[in-house]
Amino acid sequence: MKKPSIVVVGSLNMDLVISLDRLPVIGETLPGKEIHYISGGKGANQAVGCARLGAAVTMIGAVGDDMFGAQIISRMEQFGVSTPAIAVKHDTSTGTATIMHTQEDNCIVIIPGANGLCDPEMVESHAEAIRSADILLVQLEIPLPAVERAMRIAAAAGVTIVLNPAPALPLPDEWIQLADIFTPNETEFAHYSGSSIDSGEELFRQMSKWQSRYGNTLIVTRGEAGISCINGDGIITVPARRVKPVDTTGAGDSFNAALGFAIASGRELEPSLNFAVKAASLSVMKFGAQDGMPSLDEVESA
Ligand code: RIB
Repeated sequence: MKKPSIVVVGSLNMDLVISLDRLPVIGETLPGKEIHYISGGKGANQAVGCARLGAAVTMIGAVGDDMFGAQIISRMEQFGVSTPAIAVKHDTSTGTATIMHTQEDNCIVIIPGANGLCDPEMVESHAEAIRSADILLVQLEIPLPAVERAMRIAAAAGVTIVLNPAPALPLPDEWIQLADIFTPNETEFAHYSGSSIDSGEELFRQMSKWQSRYGNTLIVTRGEAGISCINGDGIITVPARRVKPVDTTGAGDSFNAALGFAIASGRELEPSLNFAVKAASLSVMKFGAQDGMPSLDEVESA
């Protein structure tokens, strides 16, 4: 099988992970169990996920000129990601994500820092890397004009685009159509479809509506329920594997990385979905978004 080449344009964060028995309610003060500082960011996590599976990965993004930025880059290099296209911005801090983590769930607050300085010019200066990739992976944790430029470069070169619309932000229809594959989670899909999606039937109804409107492949990630995907051939649901979760942070990133990897390796859609669901299920069994990303052997032998 050929070694897939993947470019990720997106965020790099230092994750401040606070472990708790349960999430606090509004107005409540709770003692946490511990705090960890670990590399994260949806873009960086997806890049590491692809590299762990064996892809040649280039990361385009930005960190601040500080200790967190240096640590994040060094960690990505250890995972084999190519980092020269990560800009080091002066007078700005590296992005952070404060994550409240319980065994089953998490909630995240982001301070963009240097991620907020990614602009179309920066992306354009790495256009050749995007044009020569098999897959472009993008998310929405960097400014939208930078995401748009990356997608336009890829679309003009016929590079397959996976847009993971996280966090959910209003997007012009034309952009949604630029993506070959659109991968919201259920909450994000509720935002884009404008429906509260309170049942499986409503989810499938909204997915069909979406598909007739935009025509691209839509994959909704559904946590323990796995994923549901619609394209011109109808709906496929792949259930998640039953595992005991340690940390669900980055499960969506692991899914997107493995999906991109499988498609770039030449697999058809359905085997790619099975592969990506397996990778995401494995990723929640270890603590930390990047450390949980499985290797190709781990996914294939699972
Ligand atoms: O998807 C998980 C990621 O979201 C975390 O690593 C955090 O940095 C936030 O970007």
